[in-house]
Amino acid sequence: MENVFVSSHPLVLTALSFLRDKTTPRSAFRHYARIIAMLLITEASYDLLLKEKKLTTPLQPTFGMVAEEHVVLMTIFRAGLSMLEPALDLFPHAPVGFAGLVRDEKTAVASEYYWKVPRLTKESVVFLLDPMLATGGSLLHVLKKIQTPVKQIRLVTIISAPEGITSIHDQFPGVLIFTGAVDEKLNNQKFIVPGLGDFGDRYFGTEE
Ligand code: PRP
Ligand code: URA
Repeated sequence: MENVFVSSHPLVLTALSFLRDKTTPRSAFRHYARIIAMLLITEASYDLLLKEKKLTTPLQPTFGMVAEEHVVLMTIFRAGLSMLEPALDLFPHAPVGFAGLVRDEKTAVASEYYWKVPRLTKESVVFLLDPMLATGGSLLHVLKKIQTPVKQIRLVTIISAPEGITSIHDQFPGVLIFTGAVDEKLNNQKFIVPGLGDFGDRYFGTEE
């Protein structure tokens, strides 16, 4: 699949197994959610442009390299919040945008309840973070709303359904998708199978 990057990193696959397992307690679910987000965002940054920087070690002057892209982080409430802190560990200066979206339990159609995005420019490389790409409705909502032309948009998801990838790429073929897994399909309730269930409920403890 063009513009889809599925991780084969052993630590991603290990974390994913803990997330999928319904017996994983919440504390471990949160731990592995953080680990996998950090690894996937790292993989999604593999080709960011670098610039040379003069610096001095305790021994002598030398040159180092620093990322020069204008990275903007964007996340979708609620479940995407789980990926924000690891993203900020990697990009501590990045501005952050938020979209509040929730899927209707019956129709699976996403509706917006919050929107706040920093200034975007044609230099911006936007990392759009949401653990679950199911129908693609939530991420498509955000992609359609980002009207400023930007340099690139990179989606980082933990699990993606083939249906969601197709719906994103039908309308936004240039968007890169970095994911921990492409699962089999959506079920009748538009949940990803095998998936991991409702990410937000498991992460925030609203499943009971
Ligand atoms: C989940 C998930 C995505 C969305 C994916 O959020 O975090 O945002 O579903 O589904 P889609 O691709 O079919 O749009 P949900 O609406 O359950 O809200 P929550 O994050 O508050 O739990
Ligand atoms: N949102 C989730 O949290 N899980 C799914 O399987 C689909 C959407």
